[in-house]
Formats: sequence, C-alpha cells, structure tokens
Amino acid sequence: MTSAIEIKGLSKTFRSEFLQKEKKVLSNLNLSVESGTIFGFLGPNGAGKTTTIKLLTGLIHPTSGTAFIFGKSIREIVSREKMGFLPERPYFYEYLTGLEFLNFCGELFGLSRSSRDKKIDELLELVDLKGSEKMQMRQYSKGMLQRIGLAQALFNDPELVIMDEPMSGLDPVGRKEVRDIILHLKDEGKTVFFSTHILSDAELICDEVAILIGGTLRNQGKLEDFLNPKVKSIEVCLRGVSKEQLSQIKPMLSSMTFHDERILVCLDREERLEKLLAWVAQEKAQVISITPRKETLEDLFLEEYKVGVKA
Ligand SMILES: Nc1ncnc2c1ncn2[C@@H]1O[C@H](COP(=O)(O)OP(=O)(O)OP(=O)(O)O)[C@@H](O)[C@H]1O
Ligand SMILES: [Mg+2]
Repeated sequence: MTSAIEIKGLSKTFRSEFLQKEKKVLSNLNLSVESGTIFGFLGPNGAGKTTTIKLLTGLIHPTSGTAFIFGKSIREIVSREKMGFLPERPYFYEYLTGLEFLNFCGELFGLSRSSRDKKIDELLELVDLKGSEKMQMRQYSKGMLQRIGLAQALFNDPELVIMDEPMSGLDPVGRKEVRDIILHLKDEGKTVFFSTHILSDAELICDEVAILIGGTLRNQGKLEDFLNPKVKSIEVCLRGVSKEQLSQIKPMLSSMTFHDERILVCLDREERLEKLLAWVAQEKAQVISITPRKETLEDLFLEEYKVGVKA
C-alpha cells in the first residue's frame, strides 16, 4: 500500500544573506507515514518541524533528498491535490467575515456556488462555527481563528491533512475541540500529520510519532513501542506526619514535597509501597492518594532532548 507521506533523505540548508553563511536545519530526514493514521511530529523550538512541513507543501525546496505524497513527488503540483494545510501562524483578511473567507476559499478551488454553499455548511458544522460565520474575523477569538483555519484546510476534502502546531495557544477546551476534529478525520479514513509541542495532546490521539531534534530524526514509531508500560514511580500523598517522622524513612523515598499539612512523597520502586503503607499505619497518619506514574511521552521527549543536546 502506498504511504501517505514518504520522506527520503530530505535535507535543507539555508544560506544567510550576510556572508552567505550556511545553516543546516534539516539533515537526511527519512520518515514514513501510513495512510489512515494520525501522526505526531514532535520537537522543541527550532527543531525543523515547520521547515519540513514547508518542504512537504512545496513552499520551499529541498537542498537534497525528496518526499512523496501518496506516491507523487513533492516536486509535482499534483502531489498537493489531495492535501489540506493549516499553517503555523495562519494570516486572515480580518475584515472578511468567516463566511466570506470560506466562500473565497471555495472560489479558489473552483467550486460552483451551490457546491460551495453545501460544503461551507458542512464545514461550519464540523468546526462548530455555525452562528458565528457572519462575524468579521477580527472579532474571532484565537480558538475560532484556528477552527476557521481548519475549515479552509478541509475545503477540498483532502485525504491528507497537514497541520503545523494546530493546538498552540489554545485553552484546554480549544485543544480538545481540535483533537476531536482530528479524530473525526481519522474516522473518515483520512491521514493527519501534525506538529506539536503539546506532548499530552500527541499522546492522546497519535498512532505514531516522530521526534525531531536539531534537524535530526531521533525516533519514530508507535507510541506503545516507545513508552515503557511499567510503573516508573509512585506518588503518595500523606497527611498527619511531620518532617521529623518522615526522616526515619528518608532512604526509601526518592523525593518529598511539603504543601501545608499535606506531604507528597515519591517512591521509585513499586515494592516499597507496601513498606510505606505499613509505616503510615504505624504512625497513625493518613493516605490521601496513591498515583502510579508510567512513562509519558514527555519523559521520553526530555530524554531524547538531553541526547540531542549532547550530540
Ligand atoms: N528562511 C530561513 N532562513 C534561515 N534560517 C531559517 C529559515 N527558516 C527557518 N530557519 C531556521 O531553521 C531552524 C528550524 O526552524 P523551524 O521553523 O523549522 O523550526 P520549528 O521546529 O518549526 O520550531 P518552532 O517549534 O519554534 O515552530 C531554526 O533555527 C530557524 O531559525
Ligand atoms: Mg514551527
């Protein structure tokens, strides 16, 4: 089966105008995105995520290497036929209403008036902007702008939707709305490729992720293969014990944090929990909560980041 995206040895070097100094921002990137999946492209600021996305969407050209969208080279315009794109900081004509803007998009795609109206109706419903389409976009909140941007990315009913930081700057509700739209697109059999800093969002919805650091791919794979399912540590919240009492069992704890009358202690080995609970009972203290912590994408990302910085 043809992959939605196949990146082969993609590299990009920018040349500064001043002294023509070269800056390599993407090094020999190889990546494969299976069709019908949600793919998270992760990396810290300056990692090269936007550069990669600009290369895939034909906004800039590679220094070497290439990529294919559903088997078509990114050099060919047809590679963008089945693609929708939400840029990192989309710019809108703010004096247009949402409706005027979507009509403008529809005209760019060459749709007739009636198909445009039908599509706009569908999209407004999907991005939850029904009722706000007659407002000028300068009155839209950041979340509404992001959603109207998403609507324009979906106008041509794309098979592949590429989004650069679609959740950035949104509050938890806005992020959930974008996540739900992404999941809806997957249900419709589409492929979604998006970059993000917000690791928890990637963790919630991605089938596969790649981590890019300093222009180099550090890791690609299914989340479940990446993350260690074993419990990494256990956090126990206690009440009714003093610092002095706790000092008796200090060697057992990997950390302790005091907050008013509550104390949060951390155990780095599961087998220590039983001992701790026995001690708590003996001291007549109270256990408020016990939270096992498994490895998260954030832990992995930080580990990769340390390796990347050292390399
Ligand atoms: N046109 C350009 N000329 C010179 N350098 C550039 C150009 N565009 C990007 N860069 C550099 O390439 C590197 C990667 O930038 P890019 O925007 O791809 O990162 P990013 O991963 O998207 O970061 P962020 O998370 O901040 O959006 C940065 O060091 C940036 O300064
Ligand atoms: Mg970027």
